[in-house]
Amino acid sequence: MCGIAGYIGLRQASPLLLEALRRLEYRGYDSVGMAIQHDNCVEIRKGPGKVAAVDSECHFAEMPGTLGISHTRWSTHGGPSQRNAHPFFDASKRFAVVHNGIIENYLELKELLRRDGVVFSSDTDSEVIVHLTSQNFKGDLLEAVRSVVKHLQGAYAFCVINNVDREIIVARNGSPLVIGIGQGENFIGSDVSAFVEHTKKVMYLDDFSLARITKDNVQVSDFAGNPLPLQVKTIDWDLEQAQKQGYKHFMLKEIFEQPQVAQDSLKQAVSITVRPARIIIVACGTASYAGYVGKYLIEKLADVPVINEIASEFRYQEPPLSKDDLVVAISQSGETADTLAAVRLAKKHGVKTLGLINVVDSTIAREVDQVIYTRAGPEIGVASTKAFMSQLVTLYKVAYSLADRTFDPQQLVSLITKVLEMQPQVKEIAQKYYHHPHFLYIGRNRNFPLALEGALKLKEISYIHAEAYAAGELKHGPIALVSDEMPTVALCPQDQVYAKTISNIEEIKARQGRIISIATEGDERIKSVSDDVLYVPKVDDILYPFMLVVPLQLLAYHIADLKGCDIDKPRNLAKSVTVE
Ligand code: F6R
Repeated sequence: MCGIAGYIGLRQASPLLLEALRRLEYRGYDSVGMAIQHDNCVEIRKGPGKVAAVDSECHFAEMPGTLGISHTRWSTHGGPSQRNAHPFFDASKRFAVVHNGIIENYLELKELLRRDGVVFSSDTDSEVIVHLTSQNFKGDLLEAVRSVVKHLQGAYAFCVINNVDREIIVARNGSPLVIGIGQGENFIGSDVSAFVEHTKKVMYLDDFSLARITKDNVQVSDFAGNPLPLQVKTIDWDLEQAQKQGYKHFMLKEIFEQPQVAQDSLKQAVSITVRPARIIIVACGTASYAGYVGKYLIEKLADVPVINEIASEFRYQEPPLSKDDLVVAISQSGETADTLAAVRLAKKHGVKTLGLINVVDSTIAREVDQVIYTRAGPEIGVASTKAFMSQLVTLYKVAYSLADRTFDPQQLVSLITKVLEMQPQVKEIAQKYYHHPHFLYIGRNRNFPLALEGALKLKEISYIHAEAYAAGELKHGPIALVSDEMPTVALCPQDQVYAKTISNIEEIKARQGRIISIATEGDERIKSVSDDVLYVPKVDDILYPFMLVVPLQLLAYHIADLKGCDIDKPRNLAKSVTVE
């Protein structure tokens, strides 16, 4: 959940590490810090706040030295503050550590260390690592870290340096870590964006492994000390993909990339050869809403029963799984801790797993039996948009493949381009409604998960309270909320549930509710029951989710923008949720 970076070479480390922090900031942004080795000392500068703010206080790039580590934090143990910012020193200030993940047994370890006279300077779980390293150091930093990992329970990726050795030691168990291999220099990052302009040769560290990284060499071994082969890959990412290209926010850029994303995802080969008795879809947040759309599709087209499970719930249930089931994990990052745990649980029961994953070679992508990459490209905005689009396309392909058919929707890409043209109308509606403190979203059937997604987008980036309901549920309680203070976004395209949804809209209207409908071009009737209408093109019933999601994303975006919110980095969130 935090971002970590490292550099060793001949260049000044601090400007490179500062740039890496800017790129990794999407992973967490409540405090920032850097440790640089220079003249047999380690210097640490750090503070609470986002990278730019902390840098203006700490002037990171002025720190001299050609070896260092850095960190941008998303708090788990201990609030965002100077004392809880990484890196951490041991008492002698010879060792420094940055950590991403959670050390679950840290209280027990802290107690043992305290008995040995260790004084802690933070409230974090991470600080135990540096004190244990110092205690276990007998001249070889790698061996010290090898002893340390034996004491640790939980998920981690961490980097350790000391004041004299020209090396960075890294350890991984459950949190992502990638090494960039350069010429006479090497890099470390929580993902490749930390160093992608310097090298495209990368090595993903596996769980339960350690690496000793010098400027000319990388040695990898397992926790027991057995050497592991170096598996260097060349990536085809380019930095421009990760920059804003003139858009005000990454989120807006990513919304507008959706026609291209749909095209790329459509090209992906999808073949499900064995028809399962049942499919269980496991995912979190937006990815889980894509999964709900998948259920409607797979059941309708392929007649295979589908169960949708929120990964954080599934992992602690005792689901009756059978060998004929297929567990489908959907994840943009491929690092979400709960989704990963759900995959591991399925594998433990001997159930086959399929991953629909965006980030290539991410942990879930590597652990599932079969992976289909969703091809959204790097998604930087914390609110997921284009990844959802790519997940939808891929799920449609899965459903069609299970039905022995090919999903080849003519004009889907140009239709998505067309819905994007409604941005000016969406902006006008945002202007009219952005001051409302509550919103209701309704939809039926395949449109219901879209209502959930629309409400999630609004709440996470604008901090407006939004509730989504299956339209037929309204009269069972939530209709009590309706007043002219709480507008309803009604998903009402002319599909098979159109008439039913219109009735639900009428019920809201009769109670002075204000309605923003998203409907099919040419539908005049909807105007009489709505205050405002956004029209999407007429498509085959089954394709409406692709049309509806775009205005929902744009509405959330423009409302948040009018409210002056930090859209790409909403409060309390992080892009990749690698903790429970
Ligand atoms: C919402 C959002 C989250 C993620 C969820 C799963 O905009 O981004 O709800 O969808 O945290 O993340 P992944 O797909 O990386 O597993």
